[in-house]
Amino acid sequence: MTDVQNAREALVWQLEAGIDECVGEDPVNRLAEAGVAAVVETEEAAERQPAGRAARRIETRPEKASAPAPQTEVPGVQSAWDLAAACGSVEELEAAVRGFDECALKKTATNTVFSDGNPTAKVMFVGEAPGADEDRQGKPFVGPSGQLLDKMAASIGLDRTSFYITNIVFWRPPGNRNPTTNEIALCLPYVERQIELVDPDILIPLGGLAAKTLLGVQQGITKLRGKWQIYQSKNLATPINVMPFLHPAYLLRSPSAKKDAWQDLLAVKNKLNAG
Ligand code: URA
Repeated sequence: MTDVQNAREALVWQLEAGIDECVGEDPVNRLAEAGVAAVVETEEAAERQPAGRAARRIETRPEKASAPAPQTEVPGVQSAWDLAAACGSVEELEAAVRGFDECALKKTATNTVFSDGNPTAKVMFVGEAPGADEDRQGKPFVGPSGQLLDKMAASIGLDRTSFYITNIVFWRPPGNRNPTTNEIALCLPYVERQIELVDPDILIPLGGLAAKTLLGVQQGITKLRGKWQIYQSKNLATPINVMPFLHPAYLLRSPSAKKDAWQDLLAVKNKLNAG
């Protein structure tokens, strides 16, 4: 093979591995920095990867699979809580997020992906993080998993005029990696305020990372899905019913799990009809 062919092969390999962003001038050997590294397969990573892509992330031991606790010591987090608390409407909150420069993800993203749908809806979905399509269009869930989610919602009579949707982080992590604990901590004040302002009847975290973050629990999504939970935050007059869903990206790769997803959709439909 010629050098050009070798270089092309190497680039194709990187793209297939999800390395599709250049985030610095010089390469950084993160394995050398981290010392002993382990390749850990995570449920959330598996859910977010586009169909056919290896679902892995590199992580040092010991693994902490816990929901991130509110962290005010991360630089910028306290100001995020203060800025979010001062917002009295979803429009103000969107402007605050667009003006917030403390989350490093913003530097590599093309667009801020704030939300879509109806902010007065009874149903609110919260996904994990924008992917490449969402980053390009500036809207959550517009790629293949969004198309599946739209079909799932339509099966119980909902569309983007009757649901609201956002993510745990507002900017695409480079190469679709998992958002870090700090990135989540910096976005969480805005996500919590968004939930308070929309104040839906039913909150639906999509996938393990969203469920763990919002519920502050450690269980994986396969344990959490299908069971009603409660979400409470300090400015909510009444707690919100939560039904964690499997992530649509996971359902695209594991069609046999769609029967569970259908049960969860029916639970939401019945709750809406009862309410
Ligand atoms: N997956 C997510 O979690 N969010 C999106 O917006 C798109 C894909």
